[in-house]
Order: sequence, then C-alpha cells, then structure tokens
Amino acid sequence: MGKEQLSSFYDDIYDNIKGHYHKSPKNTPWYNLWQPVANIISMNGIENVFDLGCGPGHFAEVVNNTEKLFLTSNVKQFYGYDFSPSAINMIKNKNFSEKYMFEERDLRDYNFLEHYSKDKKEKTIFTIFEFLEHVWWDLNLLKRIPSGAMVALSVPNVGGPQHVRHFLTTDEIRVRYGDYIIFDSLSKVTAHHFLGIGIKK
Ligand SMILES: C[S@@+](CC[C@H](N)C(=O)[O-])C[C@H]1O[C@@H](n2cnc3c(N)ncnc32)[C@H](O)[C@@H]1O
Repeated sequence: MGKEQLSSFYDDIYDNIKGHYHKSPKNTPWYNLWQPVANIISMNGIENVFDLGCGPGHFAEVVNNTEKLFLTSNVKQFYGYDFSPSAINMIKNKNFSEKYMFEERDLRDYNFLEHYSKDKKEKTIFTIFEFLEHVWWDLNLLKRIPSGAMVALSVPNVGGPQHVRHFLTTDEIRVRYGDYIIFDSLSKVTAHHFLGIGIKK
C-alpha cells in the first residue's frame, strides 16, 4: 500500500516530458475513462464542470474536442483544480478558451464550491478521475459535493506508491462510495480502471 504524497511528487511526474502526461489524451491509458463522460456532458447539456484533481487538463481537452465534434457548446464553465504547480503550468500552454479555468489548489481544504451555483445543480457535474485513491480523505471530499449534482469518478484496481487504496471489484467500490453516490452505471472500462457515474445523495 502506498502513501499520500506531496505536490512535489506529482510535479516530478509531470516534469518528465517522456511520460504519458505529455501525450495527447487519445494516446494515454485513460482516454476510455474521459471520453464517455465528455459524451454525457455534451448529450445532457451539462453547463458546469468541476474537475477535481485535474492534472494537466487532459479531461478538459477531451470535453473541448467533444463539443467541437458534436457541434455543442453547452459547457459554460469548466473549473479544474489540482495542487501540482507543474500540472497547472502545463495547462497554460494548451490555449483553452476563457470558459476553461484552472487553479492550483489543495483540495484537502479548498472550498471547491466557491463557483458552484445551487440552482444549476442538475446541470453540474463533478468529475474525479484517478484521484480518490490518492488521499485518505476521499469520503470527506465526496461529502462536500452538493446533493443532486452529477458525479463521475474513476478508480484503479492496482496499487502504487501514491495509492492509499485500490479496488478489486465494483462491489468494493459500492461499499465505500455507495453511501454518497447513487450509481447509474459502474463498471470496469479498462484492464486497470473502473468508471462510475451517478448522482450525489
Ligand atoms: C493520477 S493523477 C490524475 C490526474 C487527472 N485527473 C487525470 O485523469 O489524468 C492524480 C492527481 O491528483 C492530484 N492531487 C493529489 N493530491 C491532491 C490534493 N491534495 N489536492 C489537489 N490535487 C491533488 C495530483 O497532483 C495529480 O494531478
């Protein structure tokens, strides 16, 4: 079992220009987590996206590309938060339009609802890709998501120095997160990743 890491740990990963994080989203192992959620955002007219632990903005790129492909433009605000300065710096070179906003924040104590509007809850999604397994306070993070908002999360079935837990089955995920999320779908989507989509209880 790994341990919770400092932001410098992730900076080192992002500073390695030969790593996956410097490839386009399609050429990474996580594309099949991001694309179905981007499709849901376009097909359901989601207006607000909060990407928690956004890394170098790959999911935002997929959302942006999907809107272009489907000729949709329903997303009005996309906020990405991550505590790694290197991740946020990488995003600065990606030329996102103004509706894409990224902030260097430690989500342990940052109030990520600062820009959330209650009357938009049906049009809001919180996305949490490959992040919950990195922190002990995963349940605390989920508790802070407003009831009624859509949530998409992915978690792995493998450990690593930065994973404080991982999951072998969808049942294990339901046991840990089922008190917080009513899952519409939860399945294994790659050899090493589960994807769950639902509504915050
Ligand atoms: C495996 S990466 C996933 C990145 C991105 N969601 C993706 O799908 O590529 C985990 C991310 O969580 C971020 N992270 C870890 N602990 C954090 C914290 N306390 N606050 C904010 N971000 C954190 C790391 O910097 C890293 O970018």
